[in-house]
Amino acid sequence: QKDIITLAIETSCDETAAAVLKNGREVLSNIISSQIEIHKKFGGVVPEVASRKHIENINIIIQDALDKAGVTLDEVDNIGVTYGPGLVGALLVGISTAKALAFGKDIPLVPVNHIEGHIYANFIEFPELEPPFVCLVVSGGHTHLVYMKDYGEYELLGRTKDDAAGEAFDKIARALGLGYPGGPLIDKLATKGDKNAIDFPRVYLEEGSFDFSFSGLKSAVLNYLNSLKQKEISIPVEDVAASFQQSVIEVLTQKAIKAAKRMKTNTIVIAGGVAANEGLRNMLKERGSEEGLDIKFPSRILCTDNAAMIGCAAYYNYLKGNVAGLDLNGVPNLKL
Ligand code: KG4
Ligand code: ZN
Repeated sequence: QKDIITLAIETSCDETAAAVLKNGREVLSNIISSQIEIHKKFGGVVPEVASRKHIENINIIIQDALDKAGVTLDEVDNIGVTYGPGLVGALLVGISTAKALAFGKDIPLVPVNHIEGHIYANFIEFPELEPPFVCLVVSGGHTHLVYMKDYGEYELLGRTKDDAAGEAFDKIARALGLGYPGGPLIDKLATKGDKNAIDFPRVYLEEGSFDFSFSGLKSAVLNYLNSLKQKEISIPVEDVAASFQQSVIEVLTQKAIKAAKRMKTNTIVIAGGVAANEGLRNMLKERGSEEGLDIKFPSRILCTDNAAMIGCAAYYNYLKGNVAGLDLNGVPNLKL
């Protein structure tokens, strides 16, 4: 049987990324060009700037991915591309490039949902992993608790009603004057602080709910910071980082474990940028093992935005015959 080679493109936010995969799970190359340095001075991603940078970089990144993989365009069997959710201008750069290559080389164009891509990062990390399992998707734009029944089949158990988990990390980091993106900075500071120093709220919502809400926690932290400023007391940054992070990860961990029990599965998979959080990884591993659960998360490079995860999802979509026409459009608020 012939190997299937996938070229994948991801430009939904501030990473210009391309990857080449063999048979869906073997990564031959995974190139990521981050624009963080450019957006940092604005305190967040500027959509127009992101689109322009993608245009400058995309061809170089794709060529680099092909070269590193030792593959020519003529050997590519399909092209996977993120078509949502994300910034529409940014998405369109990747989509237009993928269309041009698919048309020029007469190969199938495979549309990929970015959230689905994050989940599939785990199929790369764990070659034996198969659905069903419960998946906690926590990124800068999304907080979803999902039951993955089969490839491409999801049951949404719960989602955030307001801020995404990563968004909360980024906003609190900004309030603490730490810079962007905030998640990794808070993660690092939290290891030096006391997680019990400040009693920030844990929001569980109604009994049995798998939804999340982080805006109350965000307000509580901002109010706390303001009250110290008014009293001219210096801010214990490390303790705030540790206590805030503890509030977020306790809720995420508790709900993920409850969801696994409800769905009668022994496997919980974590995905998305916040899955890189050391505190969350440790807590889920510890509490999960107490409950006899198998907790999986991708290595850090596969947690944050990358094209390898998009290529893996594209491979399974392609096997299902899920290919797009050249009229494929970007869908900024695409749902899972
Ligand atoms: O998945 P991702 O790269 O992009 C989106 O699809 O949103 O996630 C980015 C988010 C940012 O909010 C960032 O602060 C957060 O993931 N993040 C983290 C960590 N690394 C990245 N949050 C907490 N701890 C981390 N170590
Ligand atoms: Zn993402």
